[in-house]
Order: sequence, then C-alpha cells, then structure tokens
Amino acid sequence: MGPRLGGVLDRPAGTIEGFRYSRAMKNSKIVWDEKSLDAYLAEPQKLVPGNLMPFSGIADPQKRSDLIAYLGTLK
Ligand code: HEM
Repeated sequence: MGPRLGGVLDRPAGTIEGFRYSRAMKNSKIVWDEKSLDAYLAEPQKLVPGNLMPFSGIADPQKRSDLIAYLGTLK
C-alpha cells in the first residue's frame, strides 16, 4: 500500500523510484528526519496537506519516538 520505509531517515520525501506518490508528497520538499517524521506521524494531513496516506496519525509522543527509533534501524 505504501512506499518502502527502509532508509527513510535522511531521505527526501516522495523519492522512491517507481512508487506513485501524490503531488502533495512529491512537492512537499521535506527531508525525513526525527523532527519531520514526528510531525508527519502526529498529524499526516497537517504536515503534508492532501497526501494520500490513509492513516490518521499517532497521538502518543512516546509511541512516535519509539517508532521513529525503529524506522532508523531499517536499511
Ligand atoms: C505507523 C504506520 C505508518 C508509518 C510509520 C508510515 C510512514 C510513512 C512515511 C514516512 C511516508 C512518506 C514516505 C516517503 O516519502 O517515501 C508514507 C507515505 C505513504 N504511506 Fe504511510 N505510514 C504508516 C501507515 C500507513 C498505512 C496504514 C498506509 C496504507 C494502508 C500507508 C500508506 C502510505 C501511502 C499510500 C503513502 C504515500 C502518500 C502520498 O504519496 O501522498 N501508510 N508513510
């Protein structure tokens, strides 16, 4: 359903070759780091309005922080 997340830390948004991103994601000019991932995972539609990820976000900051640490281990 979604783009591969291995190596997502430090990657510019919307740049996995062959994945059909929304215009919103491609034009977002975001580079995924701890801060931008935290904002995106808190409220995906607020950081990238109009993006097509069907997920409403994670309210708990500790859960987001744990998840981002995990994403950082994915190659
Ligand atoms: C905790 C769960 C999730 C995390 C951590 C997550 C993370 C992300 C991230 C970081 C991106 C941007 C990727 C990039 O720029 O290459 C993204 C995009 C996307 N995700 Fe998720 N996601 C989650 C849940 C989901 C779910 C449940 C779905 C679908 C059922 C989904 C579908 C998508 C799609 C379609 C995009 C591209 C959006 C667009 O082009 O506008 N994600 N996700």
